[in-house]
Amino acid sequence: MKTSFLIPALGLVAAVAWAQPSPGLVDAARGPVPVLESTHPPLLGNAVNDDVRRPRNYDQQPPTIPHRVDGYQIDRNFNKCLDCHARAKSDFSGAIPVSATHYIDRAGKVLPQISTRRYFCMQCHIAQERDPALVGNSFRGVEPDKK
Ligand code: HEC
Ligand code: HEC
Repeated sequence: MKTSFLIPALGLVAAVAWAQPSPGLVDAARGPVPVLESTHPPLLGNAVNDDVRRPRNYDQQPPTIPHRVDGYQIDRNFNKCLDCHARAKSDFSGAIPVSATHYIDRAGKVLPQISTRRYFCMQCHIAQERDPALVGNSFRGVEPDKK
């Protein structure tokens, strides 16, 4: 083998070895677990399932979900949320139908089916957990009579 190839190759091996983080290295941005170990996210608790619709705090706020949604399938073949919330299904399901805005595409055209930009419901709507607030918050929502 030609030594002209061998020298850069050895250099690369040395650089990789040098770039390995030391076992105890901690990166504060990802928590107290050392960089070379996997983190274990805390388990999710039980979402609130009281079926009570919550007031909205500002105009155009996506309403929060008042029921559990664990295991609801949303993929290219099926959307469990639309099984109840599609406008055509709400007579049977008793769910609040998605508003007309959910059928409008980004060019403003009204579609016969849900718009793709509203397909992944939990991008905007989320179930809630009974957790204490992590930080103080002095936000005040719109007052109902000033809407
Ligand atoms: C089995 C039927 C059913 C399914 C499936 C379902 N919902 Fe619901 N949803 C309801 C009903 C009924 C209500 C009215 C309040 C209640 O009874 O919980 C509701 C309420 C809501 C509300 C509150 C609306 C408001 O104006 O306050 C949102 C948001 C919502 N659901 C989103 C979702 C999303 C997102 C999914 C899928 C992950 C989903 N739902 C799946 C039946 C369903
Ligand atoms: C890009 C964000 C976004 C996505 C994705 C989205 N929504 Fe909404 N949704 C909103 C907003 C904002 C509102 C309130 C304003 C409005 O009605 O457009 C709303 C309103 C609603 C309401 C209340 C309707 C009413 O008349 O009070 C229901 C129910 C709902 N959405 C269900 C769904 C379901 C089910 C999906 C998935 C198929 C979905 N949304 C996807 C943003 C979104």
